[in-house]
Amino acid sequence: MAGRKPFIGGNWKMNLHAAEAEALAGDLAERFTAGDLVDVAVFPAFPYLDRVARKLQNSAIMVGAQDFYIEPNGAFTGEVSLSMLKDVGCEVVLVGHSERRHVIGESDVLCNEKVLAALEAGFQVILCVGEKIEQREAGKTDFINYAQTCYGLAGVSADHLSQITIAYEPVWAIGTGKTASSADAQAAHKAIRACLNGTYGDTGVSGAGESVRIQYGGSMKPGNAAELLAQPDIDGGLIGGAALKADDFLAIIEAAK
Ligand code: PGA
Repeated sequence: MAGRKPFIGGNWKMNLHAAEAEALAGDLAERFTAGDLVDVAVFPAFPYLDRVARKLQNSAIMVGAQDFYIEPNGAFTGEVSLSMLKDVGCEVVLVGHSERRHVIGESDVLCNEKVLAALEAGFQVILCVGEKIEQREAGKTDFINYAQTCYGLAGVSADHLSQITIAYEPVWAIGTGKTASSADAQAAHKAIRACLNGTYGDTGVSGAGESVRIQYGGSMKPGNAAELLAQPDIDGGLIGGAALKADDFLAIIEAAK
């Protein structure tokens, strides 16, 4: 991890109702004490952000949002603004998750607008990138990751890089139980880092590409986390299914220390 502090995110997606979300947050708040060794954030569904944030307020766990809209307010039915998220204690946002790109249809242009808006508003941003299986089989993995990374970060200055985390999430590994091998994941992470270094320079850990954390996501679980997290360019994980159980999520955090 070359001096980069590991970062583990729990993406709860459209799961857990109020009581379950509160119970999980309470359990994590009580049991997670290693905030100096690893950054941790959870991403509950919108209706429960407020109550989850209250449960976590005296813990080292950050609260994040799975989505938001770029405008500050106004006639945008169904949308949630960054200032509303700030109101309820959110510090981190996801942008470009594969389910938003490929199920909801979000474009690279919108992802870029979201990244810029969230940085401007002072949020930590996790920009998700990753190839589909047919793209991997056609040898396009690195091209897709470069494209989504460069497009997502277009207009982001080196000064803002400390607010950026990239999550490499091969689409075929998300929620499928299939995990990228540690070698394949490391190769993709290394290529993404090369892309960042090409844009921002690689002169040490002071604001250049080498300082950006790159999480792996896609069926990470207690049984495979240690091997993935031991790779030199894997700096944490974005966890879906295994983030819904405190024991599993805490075991992954333990592996990241
Ligand atoms: P998964 O989801 O761990 O359930 O594969 C990861 C993600 O979508 O962030």
